[in-house]
Amino acid sequence: MTMAPDATTYQLIDGKQTAETIKAEIAAEVATIKAAGGKVPHLAAILVGHDGGSETYVRNKVLACERVGFESTLLRYEDDITEAELLAKVEELNQDASIDGFIVQLPLPRHISSEKVLEAVRPEKDVDGFHPMNLGRMVAGLPALLPATPSGIVELLRRYKLPTDGKHCVVIGRSNIVGTPVSILLAKNLEPGNCTVTLCHSRTQNLASITKTADILVAALGRPEFVTADMVKPGAVVIDVGTTRVEDANRKTGWALKGDVKFDEVAPLASYITPVPGGVGPMTIAMLLLNTLKACKGEVYPR
Ligand code: GUN
Repeated sequence: MTMAPDATTYQLIDGKQTAETIKAEIAAEVATIKAAGGKVPHLAAILVGHDGGSETYVRNKVLACERVGFESTLLRYEDDITEAELLAKVEELNQDASIDGFIVQLPLPRHISSEKVLEAVRPEKDVDGFHPMNLGRMVAGLPALLPATPSGIVELLRRYKLPTDGKHCVVIGRSNIVGTPVSILLAKNLEPGNCTVTLCHSRTQNLASITKTADILVAALGRPEFVTADMVKPGAVVIDVGTTRVEDANRKTGWALKGDVKFDEVAPLASYITPVPGGVGPMTIAMLLLNTLKACKGEVYPR
C-alpha cells in the first residue's frame, strides 16, 4: 500500500510519562532534603466554590504533592466569600513561613477581581507565575517563577529534543495564563527557544493560512476540536493545550475531556502531537511542583 504523499507516521508526546519522570526527580530531591533535615516544600491551594473542573485540578495538585513528599494544604471557601475576605486569606498565606508557595485556583466568582487577588500574592510565593512581577521578570529575561503550563510546553519540547531554533511557532489564543506567556518564552534566546512566533487570536484574519505555515502549532484557545487537518502543515509539531469537558453519554461521568485539536484527523499529518488527556495537562502539575521546590529553596528570589 502506498502512503498519501503528505502523510507521516506521528509520534505521541507523552506528557503523562514525562511528568512522572519529573515527579520522580523531584521526589528524589525531597528525600535528600528530608535526610539532611532541611525544609520540606509546602504548597497551599485556595479553591473557591464548586466548579467541577477546578475541583479536579486542585485535587490532582494536592495528590501530586503527596506523591513527591511535599506537604500540602487545601483551603476551601464557598462562592459567597467576599473579595476582602479572600484578600485577607491570601495575606495570611503570604505571612505564613511554613508555606513556600500557594495558588488561587481560577476562575474565581464574578464578584471577585482575579487581577486584584493575583496581585496580592507575594511574588516569592507565586508558584503559578501569574503575578505581574513574575510576568514582567519573565519578559525581561530575569529569574522568575514561570507560569506552569507554558513552562510545561517548553519542557516537553526540551525532553523530546524537538528543534525550535529558527522554527515558525504559531500560537492560537492570547490568554494571560498560556498563549501570551508561551509566545514570549518560545521567542526568547533560550534553548528551547529562538522561534519566530506568531500569536493568533479571535480577531486574526485568514487563520488557517497562518497556522498552515507553523512548524510548531500551539492550540490554546479553549474551543474543542477547533484545529482541523486543513489548518496544519504536514510534519508539524502540534501541542494541544485544550481541556474542555464535552457531553459524552457513553461515559460514567457523562463527559469526556476534549482538546483544541481534532486529534484523529490532525495526528496523521503531524510529526509529533500531544494527546488530551495525557499531554500538556500532567506537565502543568509537574511544573507547579517544580516551582514550589524552587520557591522553597529560594532559587528564584534568594532569601
Ligand atoms: N485555571 C486554569 N489553569 C490554571 C492554573 O494553571 N492555575 C490556577 N491557579 N488556575 C487555573
